[in-house]
Amino acid sequence: MSEQQSPLCAVEDIPEGGCKGFTLAPRSTVFAVRKEDEVHIYLNACPHAGLELNWMPDRFLDRDKEFILCTAHGAMFEISSGRCIAGPCAGKSLTPVAHSVEDGQIYLQI
Ligand code: FES
Repeated sequence: MSEQQSPLCAVEDIPEGGCKGFTLAPRSTVFAVRKEDEVHIYLNACPHAGLELNWMPDRFLDRDKEFILCTAHGAMFEISSGRCIAGPCAGKSLTPVAHSVEDGQIYLQI
């Protein structure tokens, strides 16, 4: 089966050091974090209890914008790897979403 590319948004739509959530389909959401000119995209499902990480739209980071934060029980994840470094799912990881960036546009590989 061949891979398809689905446009998500422009890199510029995500503020540097910030993040943005996307609804792909009912009950299928992802979020993207832009940091140091890289874009990291994960499924919006916490490995602890499977809940969405955010309670507020486009809020996925801690106050200092150093870690991804799950607001349900406070798990913290590395932005670059998605690995949980503190909280009830320490050692587990967010699920990365394959993507590419071409001409300033982000494409999901589905
Ligand atoms: S569901 Fe994320 S820490 Fe519990």
